[in-house]
Amino acid sequence: MIIAIDGPAASGKGTLAKRLALHYGLRHLDTGVIYRAVAKALLDAGAELTDEAAAVTAAMELDPGKFGDPALKSQKVGDAASVVSAFPGVRDALVSFQRQFAARPPGAVLDGRDIGTVICPDADVKIFVIADPKVRAQRRTLEAKGRGEDADEAVILADILKRDERDQNRAAAPLKAAPDAHLLDNSHLDIEGGVRAAIDIIEAVRAGRQQV
Ligand code: DC
Repeated sequence: MIIAIDGPAASGKGTLAKRLALHYGLRHLDTGVIYRAVAKALLDAGAELTDEAAAVTAAMELDPGKFGDPALKSQKVGDAASVVSAFPGVRDALVSFQRQFAARPPGAVLDGRDIGTVICPDADVKIFVIADPKVRAQRRTLEAKGRGEDADEAVILADILKRDERDQNRAAAPLKAAPDAHLLDNSHLDIEGGVRAAIDIIEAVRAGRQQV
């Protein structure tokens, strides 16, 4: 089974995808980490983020062994990832890695921006997670403070809105729900509520399929 979870930054889709993978015994891939790794390689090399050729080379030389690097989680790397992920050459270089990951038995939960639309258009279930930007900013601020970091909610909200705008309006694989995706608005749900809502969607899709 392949489950595609897409949605904007800080929507809670990452935690949701991890929990669904655990529930269904599937592997999990946070595809944002891949774009973050490309961005970090460019930053580390001192290359310009606008250098498409350098970004494509970094994408082709990607080392999945480094996906666990905690430095990938920073806001700076996330912003840079949003920039380099707009290059079609970077996206093309990363397609087969993601498709191969999804295809390996017993299947996987992939979370990202274009899983249901581009990477796995035939996914068994597609869920598009949304949440009010103000709620996302509040949650991200609490998380940052929990890690002992200084966090200004207004700055975080502005960053989220800027990132949404860039991810939704790029020409290559923009952030958007696939026509057959199920919308899950978790603005008023906690993590457990979101997981339950997603499992309800998945079970309804599976039950519908068995009846055909
Ligand atoms: O989900 P995230 O914050 O880790 O993603 C960082 C950036 O990577 C995001 O702003 C856009 C890009 N991204 C993408 O273009 N396609 C994906 N499937 C995942 C992330």
